Amino acid sequence: MALKKQTVTTLQKMKENGEKIAMLTCYDYTTATLIEQTDIDAVLVGDSLGMTVMGYDDTLPVTMDDMIHHTACVSRGLKNTFLVGDMPFMSYHVSDEQAVENAGRLIKEGHASAVKLEGGAKYASRIRAIVDAQIPVVAHIGLTPQSVNAFGGFKVQGKDEERAKQLLADALKVQEAGAFMVTLECVPEKLATLISEQLTIPTIGIGAGNGCDGQVLVYQDMLDMYDGLAPKFVKHFAHIGKEMKEAFNEYSKEVKDQSFPVTGEHTFRIDNSVIDAVRKDL
Ligand code: KIV
Repeated sequence: MALKKQTVTTLQKMKENGEKIAMLTCYDYTTATLIEQTDIDAVLVGDSLGMTVMGYDDTLPVTMDDMIHHTACVSRGLKNTFLVGDMPFMSYHVSDEQAVENAGRLIKEGHASAVKLEGGAKYASRIRAIVDAQIPVVAHIGLTPQSVNAFGGFKVQGKDEERAKQLLADALKVQEAGAFMVTLECVPEKLATLISEQLTIPTIGIGAGNGCDGQVLVYQDMLDMYDGLAPKFVKHFAHIGKEMKEAFNEYSKEVKDQSFPVTGEHTFRIDNSVIDAVRKDL
């Protein structure tokens, strides 16, 4: 368990001390209470909840109200773990004012300590405006899933010289705009390492290799809770999906063969005299 409260300052210190930051996504209270009892430093209520919790094909339909609802649930389960709330598609794209207003809702109503938004240099003014409102910002560059239609799918980013230089420029620009941390998604390892070396703020990689200052994974991915194929960068640290299915089947079997519930063990007692009295009235 994180013994002292993680803040933007402690996370920055971790980069300075060469200590890696472990971050996971989380979308509900129960999981948050489990994470709080571990060594995880930071939690992201990602708009990936559109897929993992809400069953959409991508993150685009997720609303501010969805994000606030889940961020608030998670916040009630955390104490010392740093909490970042994700800004969903079209919650910051219109104007700096819209971005500040919605970032403010994630803090006031969702009780997040920081917000994350996708985009590089083009979104620098949004980052600056939110930071000016005293709200810490995590930038997110590389593969930005809200741009799935513009990208034409989910692909590794920054592979050729022009795009690699653009990605480094984006990283420097979001840092200059005031972001205190930046997520690098699906970026070749050597490029992510170079970007991490060039930045003074921590980089958090997902599919970006070990040279980043920390890592984030979607928790259902790392627990192997899906039947489908996981992206290449995911490691399964447990096989909870299999265990859940086995437990559900065992429960179903025991309900059907009446070995669950067990009298006395899972049931409540009542005096026979009460039952006799109820029967008499039948
Ligand atoms: O929404 C999300 O979970 C994310 C992570 C994958 C970084 O943005």
